[in-house]
Amino acid sequence: MSYLFPTYARWDVEPEKAIGSYMTDKNGKEYLDFTSGIGVCNLGHQPAKVKEAVKKQLDSFWHVSNLFTMEQQEIAAKILASAAEMDAVFFSNSGAEANEGAIKLARKATGKTKIITFENSFHGRTFATMSATGQDKIKQGFGPMLEKFVYVPFNDIEVLKTEMTEDVAAVMIEIIQGEGGLNVGDASFFNELQKLCTDNHILLIVDEIQTGIGRTGKPFAFQHYGLKPDIVTSAKGLGSGFPIGAIIGKEYLKEYFGPGSHGSTFGGNPLSVAASIATMNIVFQEAFLKDVIVKANLLMTELQNSLTSSPIVKEIRGLGLMIGIELTVPVQTILSELRSNGLLALPAGDKVLRLLPPLTISDSELEHGLSIIQTVLKEYSKTAV
Ligand SMILES: Cc1ncc(COP(=O)(O)O)c(C=O)c1O
Repeated sequence: MSYLFPTYARWDVEPEKAIGSYMTDKNGKEYLDFTSGIGVCNLGHQPAKVKEAVKKQLDSFWHVSNLFTMEQQEIAAKILASAAEMDAVFFSNSGAEANEGAIKLARKATGKTKIITFENSFHGRTFATMSATGQDKIKQGFGPMLEKFVYVPFNDIEVLKTEMTEDVAAVMIEIIQGEGGLNVGDASFFNELQKLCTDNHILLIVDEIQTGIGRTGKPFAFQHYGLKPDIVTSAKGLGSGFPIGAIIGKEYLKEYFGPGSHGSTFGGNPLSVAASIATMNIVFQEAFLKDVIVKANLLMTELQNSLTSSPIVKEIRGLGLMIGIELTVPVQTILSELRSNGLLALPAGDKVLRLLPPLTISDSELEHGLSIIQTVLKEYSKTAV
């Protein structure tokens, strides 16, 4: 009997050790990890520089509270804000908390309440972020939701236009919908979206919780499209596995988040901040990001070449090292077959196989992962058609 609430449909794999791109389970079976702890361990498992920074901080202090000035928080905020081309940071513990705070900030700064989000979006599990999420299954049994969220189809500028009314505080968007099916936004759509937000004085909030921290080959995915968001949220890869999230905003927003307006006991925890500085110092280097693009191109090209003709593959899409393979069959069976063959991967919705390999993955590890995917899909398609 388990004493845990059964909120997760857990896999039958119990990790014993994880280093670099690999995990070994309690039975000694080795897996190549294309999940990165769901987009968290972007530098692989146990990156040395991050471990070293956390150990050093552990020997100084690991919690004192946000009543104190902490140099490390200032350093982390400067690196993060500069990478996002913004000016102010609030540290939270998770992605949902970052989005929750972003929603509060947008309401306070505009004095308005309506927030437009997108069908199939995912923004978190707290009340405001669940309300912002454009998927009914996430909300089942928890109603009523927070008011004033409306959902429009992703990549549909005409429907969006009809909702850009005077009472709109913000548009909140993912550049790639990760949980909702690995749906990639169109450049032309983002272009129009930015124009609409600027012209109507509506805040643009970009949820970069899954797409940020180098995952797509830029510090943040919005930078592929020249967007100028007012608020960006980050988490997952920001601390390489130590819990940290962030609201990143423009200078003018500082006045709406004055003393006492928002807070978090654990937000900006010194250990997480140390992990975050070490992570960002690696990921935001130009050469590192260039390398992510090279690997991403290799992976995408090989997937396209080997799988496009498969009868069970509908589409392969993605940006950087965030790739989705849309299948004609349920993804859970494929994931289980991949695990049997030594590869850990993720679902995105019911039929999309989501690949989030570590950004540090080597070419030979990529080839190894590819060959497992090719073998499993080939074998499965024999029985499925
Ligand atoms: C785009 C996006 N926003 C928000 C969240 C919620 O983050 P957390 O689970 O850290 O609360 C997630 C998590 O998957 C996400 O992918």
